Amino acid sequence: MAVSSQSPVRSKPLMPSPAPPEALTVSDSSEPGFAVYVHWPFCAQKCPYCDFNSHVRSDGWDEKRFLAAYLRELDHTAAQIGSRSVASVFFGGGTPSLMQPQTLGAIIEHIDHVWGLASGAEITLEANPGSVDAGRFSGYRSAGANRVSLGFQSLRDPDLKRLGRIHTSREALAALDIARANFERISFDLIYARPQQTCDDWRTELSEALALGPTHLSLYQLTIEPGTAYEKLYNAGKLSVPPAEAASDLFELTQELTEAAGLAAYETSNHANPGEESRHNLVYWRYGEYAGIGPGAHGRVLSNGERLATATERHPETWLAQVEASNHGVITQESISDAEAADEMLMMGLRLTEGLDLARLARICGVRPNPETLRQLIGLGVIERDENAGRVRAVGRGRFILNEIVLHLSRSFVPVRFP
Ligand SMILES: C[S@@+](CC[C@H](N)C(=O)[O-])C[C@H]1O[C@@H](n2cnc3c(N)ncnc32)[C@H](O)[C@@H]1O
Ligand code: SF4
Repeated sequence: MAVSSQSPVRSKPLMPSPAPPEALTVSDSSEPGFAVYVHWPFCAQKCPYCDFNSHVRSDGWDEKRFLAAYLRELDHTAAQIGSRSVASVFFGGGTPSLMQPQTLGAIIEHIDHVWGLASGAEITLEANPGSVDAGRFSGYRSAGANRVSLGFQSLRDPDLKRLGRIHTSREALAALDIARANFERISFDLIYARPQQTCDDWRTELSEALALGPTHLSLYQLTIEPGTAYEKLYNAGKLSVPPAEAASDLFELTQELTEAAGLAAYETSNHANPGEESRHNLVYWRYGEYAGIGPGAHGRVLSNGERLATATERHPETWLAQVEASNHGVITQESISDAEAADEMLMMGLRLTEGLDLARLARICGVRPNPETLRQLIGLGVIERDENAGRVRAVGRGRFILNEIVLHLSRSFVPVRFP
């Protein structure tokens, strides 16, 4: 995930991230740039654990109509916020690998037309291994995508079945081969802390995954999400997940194995070789600006000097009808105050291994945390300060209690006056 189908703010899981100071590998973070998130809401089958904005349509969908709506919403957003250079585009879902390559190509072309793609812009497509075929993948590459994120979830067939996945581990590996034949930058997702999973199971499975030589991995702890089939089973006592302590051991094991393989975490659930971090993810976590296009997409954009939080209609056909009637599917558009932006920025930045850039917080939100509060939290061992880089990050137990840390820091904010 990237995170976020709907909202990148809700990156799963809210688990700790280790923060070795040496791992500050990502260079210029002063201005994360502008990104575009495009949400494709359809899936072949609904996975029982998933609460993303994903819908199954046995009769399919009118892709031409949807394409026209995406283009109209892009026009509308561009007219609202003005010119930008696009550093990253992320097609998330749902299952964007159900899109025709021509649809993807037309959207990319239109993004370039309304804003302009920066040279070397990152263009990622999320793909379900059950809907990967060679012809389509070469079509996506020709259409302009240059990075793929595959939803493996597990390398164990019985677990894939329990997770309600439409693919086997063999198909996942075949999808990886197809992806590698077409793309240089590939990531895959795994879910751990699955029912009955032990540390030994995960050690073997993650080691197998690392032996595949990924340069980027998203490793999510299974979360029981409200409204999902898994929640019903969980509440009925028919599904159990590892208790908090076991989940924390699984998390630490994840850090140990990925670090040893050169894929240290750069964010709570995201791991990469130095330089292979997802630029799109970094726009979210460094609190950059992003437009959200498509059903149930969220955005944070600047318009006429105002920072706006936008969200579009989630239901695909309702979104379509709204765009056809009024050129956009936005259902909420709220102005974000500096204080709210500061809290959001803290929440996102503390998850990063590089930490939150205090100078940027001051520049954007006009505040800085009270030095005494920082000292107290450092004394408690829940945050760490990198004096040279002017950054703070959550460490140790702090990685599990981000909400509380944000609350403390936020209450301590003092205004910064620039000469
Ligand atoms: C939009 S999906 C990825 C693309 C595609 N739909 C697929 O599943 O293959 C985003 C990722 O979120 C993760 N995810 C979704 N629900 C989750 C949950 N309840 N707990 C942990 N991870 C979850 C999965 O790893 C999934 O690959
Ligand atoms: S395929 Fe992906 S988006 Fe669709 S239901 Fe499954 S996890 Fe969610």
